[in-house]
Amino acid sequence: MFVESFRVESPNVSYSEEFIASTYKYETTELVHEKRDGKYEWIVKPKAVKYDFLTDRKVPKLGVMLVGWGGNNGSTLTASVIANREGISWVTKDGVQRANYYGSLTQASTCRIGSFQGEEIYVPFKSLLPMVEPDDIVFGGWDINNMSLADAMERARVLDVDLQRQLRPYLEKSVPLPGIFDPDFIAANQGARANNTIKGTKKEQMSKIVQDIRDFKMQTKVEKMVVLWTANTERYSDVIVGFNDTTENLLASLERGESEISPSTLYALACVQEKVPFINGSPQNTFVPGLIEYAISQNSLIGGDDFKSGQTKIKSVLVDFLVGAGIKPTSIVSYNHLGNNDGMNLSAPQTFRSKEISKSNVVDDMVSSNGILYGPGEHPDHVVVIKYVPYVGDSKRAMDEYTSEIFMGGRNTIVLHNTCEDSLLAAPLILDLVLLGELCTRIQFKKGGEEKYHSFHPVAALLSYLTKAPLVPPGTPVINALSKQRACLENILRACIGLAPESNMLLEYK
Ligand SMILES: NC(=O)c1ccc[n+]([C@@H]2O[C@H](COP(=O)([O-])OP(=O)(O)OC[C@H]3O[C@@H](n4cnc5c(N)ncnc54)[C@H](O)[C@@H]3O)[C@@H](O)[C@H]2O)c1
Repeated sequence: MFVESFRVESPNVSYSEEFIASTYKYETTELVHEKRDGKYEWIVKPKAVKYDFLTDRKVPKLGVMLVGWGGNNGSTLTASVIANREGISWVTKDGVQRANYYGSLTQASTCRIGSFQGEEIYVPFKSLLPMVEPDDIVFGGWDINNMSLADAMERARVLDVDLQRQLRPYLEKSVPLPGIFDPDFIAANQGARANNTIKGTKKEQMSKIVQDIRDFKMQTKVEKMVVLWTANTERYSDVIVGFNDTTENLLASLERGESEISPSTLYALACVQEKVPFINGSPQNTFVPGLIEYAISQNSLIGGDDFKSGQTKIKSVLVDFLVGAGIKPTSIVSYNHLGNNDGMNLSAPQTFRSKEISKSNVVDDMVSSNGILYGPGEHPDHVVVIKYVPYVGDSKRAMDEYTSEIFMGGRNTIVLHNTCEDSLLAAPLILDLVLLGELCTRIQFKKGGEEKYHSFHPVAALLSYLTKAPLVPPGTPVINALSKQRACLENILRACIGLAPESNMLLEYK
């Protein structure tokens, strides 16, 4: 059964006008490797740690600036939020379609809160904690192309024509601000698009972004901002000692106008300076070590990398299932072809390489979790191919072959064909990233014994569910398995309202 709303009554949670305060007993384990009776043993000791959470209940008026606003993702998200806000429906050959948020974790998924008379009770994910309503977001952003959002929506060829017709009046006046263009970082085939660019040195370009953020905030009167990169994939930046390995070196390189600072790193630097959360939806290494150090020192949220929307999402479910079932994947081969501008940009070897890297590590945690199947250092063969086929447009095809070793020397081969509709899968993830990114900035906690509350680590690992190559704080394990990523997010939100994590034990029925 589904219910719209609920309230928690517990000695572990209290509500004031401003805050939700909760106390949560984190049941975990402590491991020791000790010599007992002459041989080493792993000893596991259950332990409980008390955490106090404090969540600011005031949902701010939120401004979202997208880098690459006029792209397929940027225009699709902006148009779709308006369609939802205005309750627009449109005619298709299959009948009347209404705007919805399918594919958004926060807007279209649910969580179990318990059972009532033998029935499971589910609530909207977004009802766990106060979150910004998509209707209330003010969108803006930058693009190196000067098309209005109405024309960009048409160029994208993503939304149905009857819907585009109705949305055009809402989008005609939205024109992206000039963006930072550096032809060295994206494919040469993007040059023709670059008619709306910021001139000047790297430092001047960054300062212009800072000014744009301040102006946007002032003009729209938003209380908080999030900036998200959904511009084209860049090539990897070289990470060089003395150049971008520390904040000091990175800022000194900026002063000198060094060419190896990518546009995405410049946007991120501007955001960290302004303490505006910056999320990277593409695979390149925007977050060079000096930038990460800067974000940590400023306590300014950064998250990424690369939206996990199609093929990789399936992979992070399927390999988790196979390895968890005691089946040994030995070869994973993934082909993609797509015909949108992202596909054209990825047809250059350097930008493709960024995508290849972000897609390649996605099974690592699952493989290393099972030493019965895999010997030390053993790994399945894993190949990713991406081709540009203009005719298929935004309707990306992803084909995968998973070969596994099964019982008694048998072989199992699974072949998948996934027609992705790229931007319709990515746009709801962008929405979730900005809503959850904003929410993260309103949650504080302290661990048993600590005096003061503090925020989450500025490197927002909590957003991992939505990204292909999760950025995590130094020294933190990278989790790729989708179900674990979702459970982490849901359980932390539950802890904030004094609810135990979802254990799925259902002991009440056993
Ligand atoms: N399912 C998905 O669509 C998906 C999944 C994962 C990652 N991504 C990544 O998201 C990004 C956007 O995808 P898309 O389909 O919207 O691409 P797109 O090419 O349609 O849009 C990108 C936009 O960015 C603009 N741009 C390029 N460099 C810029 C810069 N430096 N500053 C400002 N604007 C700039 C371009 O003019 C373009 O309008 C790509 O990097 C893609 O790899 C997409």
